[in-house]
Amino acid sequence: MPLPKAELHLHIEGTLEPELAFALAERNGVELPYADTDEIREAYRFEDLQSFLNLYYELMAVLRTERDFEDLSNAYLARAAAQGVRHAEIFFDPQAHIARGVGMGTVVEGLWRALGSSEENHGVSTQLIMCFLRDESAESAMETLRAAEPYLDRIVGVGLDSAEAGHPPVKFREVYEAAAALGLRRVAHAGEEGPPEYIRQALDLLGVERVDHGLSCMEDPALVDRLVRDRIPLTLCPLSNVRLRAVDTLADHPLPAMLDAGLLCTVNSDDPAYFGGYVGDNFDAVRDTLGLTEDRLRELARNSFLASFLEHDEERRRRYLAEVEAYAFP
Ligand code: HPA
Ligand code: ZN
Repeated sequence: MPLPKAELHLHIEGTLEPELAFALAERNGVELPYADTDEIREAYRFEDLQSFLNLYYELMAVLRTERDFEDLSNAYLARAAAQGVRHAEIFFDPQAHIARGVGMGTVVEGLWRALGSSEENHGVSTQLIMCFLRDESAESAMETLRAAEPYLDRIVGVGLDSAEAGHPPVKFREVYEAAAALGLRRVAHAGEEGPPEYIRQALDLLGVERVDHGLSCMEDPALVDRLVRDRIPLTLCPLSNVRLRAVDTLADHPLPAMLDAGLLCTVNSDDPAYFGGYVGDNFDAVRDTLGLTEDRLRELARNSFLASFLEHDEERRRRYLAEVEAYAFP
């Protein structure tokens, strides 16, 4: 039995496996510029975040109907459950779909067809976090927030993703203020490729409660002190960092140093179809390569539930945490 955990940094579009991409392409009459699944996997050699995003946005063309988003989500939830995920807070990128003529309603209703019955079908509780594309304008983000208003009973919070360099959090200050006024929780990618200053901006200007990645904080000891003191969770994605070359090799990943510094780290998969593994695979990789002890692995699992947006159901959080403490490693 795998270690029980929450996944807090997962782009649902990044769970699109090549086999499903071809099945959906056929169902929807979409032409993919790849001969077969091997050819897609050969394209998984990324130089940096942007080179990944190019493929990520290209393959999304196959997602067109509610049923497509439902099938995508069910495939992820089944894999996540098999790797010990009890709770998942799932990012989606509505602008990438709206730009292709697929409306907010299709995306959210489609995702919900799987998420709404995920506890019964997969034993995984879920929440949705809507991300703004930071390489699009602040006006576009605000329009997206307005388009989501009819669906806010299904969306727990907002996030910020896509190309980080040159798109500092400050650009989205008003959008995050508006999201907060709507009662939404706030997270943002910061410090994946961007400097520590972007992490500070996400905290100070966007009011984020959790930082996605946050890797570059290690260049700024005063920022580390603050993140430790304020117990700001970081959603790290080790295999993603290797594939997108944020670190040279997994052995160079700062996760052990970050835990030693007292940071509230979690381990997540980011875009598992593209980066060589789901969240359990990330746990296995950091155990094997970074030599994390069972105590450290349990701490990561505990942190994932402590950092979850489960304030509406503290009884559930206690149950999940009790499972972590009771877990016997094989
Ligand atoms: N980083 C930034 N934006 C993203 C990612 C990522 O890893 N995956 C999907 N959008
Ligand atoms: Zn991400």
